[in-house]
Amino acid sequence: MAEILHVGIDLGTSRSAISGSNGERFVVDSYVGWPADMVAKKVLKRAVLIGHDAVSNRTMLDLHRPLERGLLKEGSEKDVEAVRELLKHLLGLVGVSNGGKVAASDVRAVVGVPAAALRTNKQYLRNSMKGIVDSLLIVSEPFAVAYGLDALLHTMIIDIGAGTSDFCVMRGRYPTEEDQRTLTVAGDSIDAQLLKLVEERYPEANVTIFMVREWKEKHSFVGKAPEKIVVTAPIKGVPTELDITKEMKAACESLLSPVIETMLDLLARVEPEFQERVRNNIILSGGGGLIRSLPQALEDALKQVGGGAVRCMQDPVFVGSDGGLALALDAPDGDWEKLS
Ligand SMILES: Nc1ncnc2c1ncn2[C@@H]1O[C@H](COP(=O)(O)OP(=O)(O)OP(=O)(O)O)[C@@H](O)[C@H]1O
Ligand SMILES: [Mg+2]
Repeated sequence: MAEILHVGIDLGTSRSAISGSNGERFVVDSYVGWPADMVAKKVLKRAVLIGHDAVSNRTMLDLHRPLERGLLKEGSEKDVEAVRELLKHLLGLVGVSNGGKVAASDVRAVVGVPAAALRTNKQYLRNSMKGIVDSLLIVSEPFAVAYGLDALLHTMIIDIGAGTSDFCVMRGRYPTEEDQRTLTVAGDSIDAQLLKLVEERYPEANVTIFMVREWKEKHSFVGKAPEKIVVTAPIKGVPTELDITKEMKAACESLLSPVIETMLDLLARVEPEFQERVRNNIILSGGGGLIRSLPQALEDALKQVGGGAVRCMQDPVFVGSDGGLALALDAPDGDWEKLS
């Protein structure tokens, strides 16, 4: 009998995770870089760098983040190649070598992608998996999350990632277009906003997008400030303390009205007798779901429509890939797309 290896992959804008049926789990930053020139090649001694390795050597690289704003940048061949390198790397980590012919004779992958990529990039994703896995199932990220949590009936998943915020109402069957929404306000847009606000207030300070992202991941909040937020950045080369409490609040709260509006709109479309159950089963996932007081802010908004409950996943890293793996293990032969 052929040995089957099932994997669930969460292909994210900022991080990608893989869970294998052999018990292996890995997460990498979704960056791929190629040495920029002959000097870089000599220093790095590698043909391609992936994940944290790529970010920390970025000055020497032609660096790509292939899924910005939740879409594969189809125009660019390099970005399509970057997705392929990223997928190969993830599969390599769980023990599948190129072609999948060593560790198992049949590699079956469920890949969760932002809902918008599912609509427009499916063919590209399919092509990038050719020759890497044998069978493929592409699903939307929030659906993979719902599946992994066994939250399949009368629930709403709100997955706030880096590139997109994805919404999905589960009705106990595969979700359709009408059950899902994608917004491009998410972690990256908060970072851009925060960078702009900090630069406006401290025009002399030297601040990068990588620095503000780190500050956000430590200090994000909405509502009342839990503490004063003071960070350090160089002004004319001198490390200087900057109070960014107001800027952090404003940047994080830029998420609130679009997320609330979309949540209420999807709720209003649920059949009336199930609305209350869905309102009380709202699950916040993704890194953006960790913003302090965000569940409370959403619950406050739900009060206008009769109240509800929002819980957030404390450890969102593998929720999507574990859900993909659970799906892979359950999917009948007929649901798979054969690639080889
Ligand atoms: N504690 C935190 N507070 C606020 N944001 C956070 C926190 N931790 C991580 N993030 C942000 O969450 C985002 C990453 O989340 P996640 O890994 O779910 O995204 P992704 O799956 O890569 O993106 P997408 O789902 O859009 O493709 C980044 O923008 C990151 O800065
Ligand atoms: Mg994600």
